[in-house]
Amino acid sequence: MNMTRREALIAFAAGGSATLIASPGIALAADRADGLQFAPGKHALVPLPFEPKALNGLSDKLIISHHENNYGAAVKNLNRVEEELARVTKETPGFVVFGLKERELTYTNSVILHELYFGNLGGDGKAVGTIQKALSDAFGGFGRWEEIFRAVGMSLGGGSGWTMLDFNFHAGDLRTYWSGNHTQALSFGEPLLVMDMYEHAYQMDYGAGTAKYVDAFFVNIQWDSVNQRYERALKAWEAIRG
Ligand SMILES: [Fe+2]
Repeated sequence: MNMTRREALIAFAAGGSATLIASPGIALAADRADGLQFAPGKHALVPLPFEPKALNGLSDKLIISHHENNYGAAVKNLNRVEEELARVTKETPGFVVFGLKERELTYTNSVILHELYFGNLGGDGKAVGTIQKALSDAFGGFGRWEEIFRAVGMSLGGGSGWTMLDFNFHAGDLRTYWSGNHTQALSFGEPLLVMDMYEHAYQMDYGAGTAKYVDAFFVNIQWDSVNQRYERALKAWEAIRG
């Protein structure tokens, strides 16, 4: 995708990268055939991009429940919040608007991150392509990057949140970030690899066994998707730099 500097800045401003830039496994509002990309309350579930039974160490029961109940609730709630926001007037109390806008951000990020999460599962866990070399170069070895990513994930064990490998468009490099909830993600980056650390992502299979879940996550990473995201981020980075 060729992108002008202006288009890139618009696309990545205010943390909107994942909603506007095509990403494996993610719904793109701009791609909607029905032309309803800006209509409130029209978000639909993106199907799982893999056969749930095909994952290794993450049960189909867990994955289907996660997709339908947790991701599904985020989509449904985002639609409801957008419908409520469409009814806001100058008479609406500020605390109501404040609450709705907070929920809009929470559910929007939950939808995006879940789509990225499912979009980077379904693989064989073997890192490939440009991203594999870039991580090796940036961290002094691919194993060292993996050690850090796992440690960040484990730091969220027993709680909730997300662990993300991100392309940081401020620094122009690869960083691993922590997000304690849906609204603490990097504002000017593209998530490349997303690991859901909410207990609903593993409790059904492993109870409080966070380490076993992290192991299973790595076994199932779809590195082709991560690589595609990274190569697209590099193109955007070139456009942003002008
Ligand atoms: Fe989740």
